[in-house]
Amino acid sequence: MEKLIVHGGAALKGRVNISGSKNSSLPILAATLLTKDTCTIRRVPDLSDTNYMVRILGELGAEVERASGVVVVKAEKIKSVAPYDLVRKMRASICVLGPLTGRLKKCVVSLPGGCVIGDRPVDLHLKGLEALGAVITVDGGDISVNAKKGFKGGPMNLMGKHGSTVLGTDNVMMAATLAKGTTIIEGAAAEPEVEDLANFLIKMGAKIEGAGTNRITIEGVKELHGAEHTVIPDRIEAGTFLCAGAMIGEGITLKRVMPEHMKSITDVLKKCGFPIEIGKDSISIAPNPLAKGFDLTTLCYPGFPTDMQAQFCALACAISDVSTITETIFPQRFMHIAEMKRMGANIDLQSATARIRGGQRIKGAPVMASDLRASAALVLAGLIAEGRTDVNRLYHIDRGYEHLDDKLAGLGAQLERVKE
Ligand code: UD1
Repeated sequence: MEKLIVHGGAALKGRVNISGSKNSSLPILAATLLTKDTCTIRRVPDLSDTNYMVRILGELGAEVERASGVVVVKAEKIKSVAPYDLVRKMRASICVLGPLTGRLKKCVVSLPGGCVIGDRPVDLHLKGLEALGAVITVDGGDISVNAKKGFKGGPMNLMGKHGSTVLGTDNVMMAATLAKGTTIIEGAAAEPEVEDLANFLIKMGAKIEGAGTNRITIEGVKELHGAEHTVIPDRIEAGTFLCAGAMIGEGITLKRVMPEHMKSITDVLKKCGFPIEIGKDSISIAPNPLAKGFDLTTLCYPGFPTDMQAQFCALACAISDVSTITETIFPQRFMHIAEMKRMGANIDLQSATARIRGGQRIKGAPVMASDLRASAALVLAGLIAEGRTDVNRLYHIDRGYEHLDDKLAGLGAQLERVKE
């Protein structure tokens, strides 16, 4: 197992290129199963999650080639069964459900199970597929989907008690591209990654309107063809670097970003008083010793993303003021707080609201990463801590951040990856 040793206190300065989006790449790679033709996807980040999705496509029968960010998939003949051994390691593998059912009208996909940030049900995915006419049974941990006469478009509402579902919307949208008639998804997720998937599907010949809003209309077509696509920049990786640049150093510039996807993040940073400059595809930020605290609540897009909540906990530790963070999407997603407290952070957690009194000395310590974004937050805390922070279980970070340690080192951070 590998860990990251972060030596705190080094000033950050310079430019960093943001990678392609993990959360766009995963469903877009899965969508290549909808056609027999060749698809070429560019700017796919080199991560263990995307490698895993490439492996799943291969195991389902597709021919896949991958070279420096470009993945070429030809899914001429595919299998309809994705067993537990294949999907269990990555929760997002549930996004093969939509394309397999869309193309084959039946499939068996094992339930991926919960994870540390919550129980993560798939009831809304199944509700959407049922609204398309599928008969679904869940037995022995497997979801079996059957639509003998094919799918029929119809209206549905996918809003859940914690808001809309991103991968649920992706799955139903993918299945509906090849259904007969028109599907209307109310309560759809409006995240940029859903819109990116829709843009790829449209290039494949799908008829989709409204992606990027809470109402998506899909008019089914007979078949889809091959297409080329470049995935959007990763707004969560970008947000993580913005936190780093606000926490320590002389200012950094993020390149290859889409600032319009990051408004909820940059708005909070601006309100705190961090100097920010937003260009066409770049954002610069620098620390401000007089920055004020913030009060934020995670919400569905265009609200503040739950995937940035942990990193803002770390940022709050660097601000000499009180900040509050309320988590509404995954109310149990606070595993990083106990670890930050071990570093001396002053955080009080009451149900799903964390109150952070920042600006106090925090000290390096061995810490345990529990999930992807929590791990990134611990690295951020390590950047401002006194002495050495050992972030264990580095594989969480490698799931979702392309070369995070190299990129931070390029900005001047002092860190090293070591094998235990
Ligand atoms: C995606 C993102 C993840 C992000 C999350 C919320 C990918 C690969 N992952 O995950 O990084 O944190 O969106 O922005 O894109 N829910 C139900 N029933 C369902 C599905 C979801 O109740 O059938 C609930 C979840 O428990 C959660 C909320 O809806 O409370 C949002 O989850 P969802 O948007 O589905 O998350 P993912 O798509 O799995």
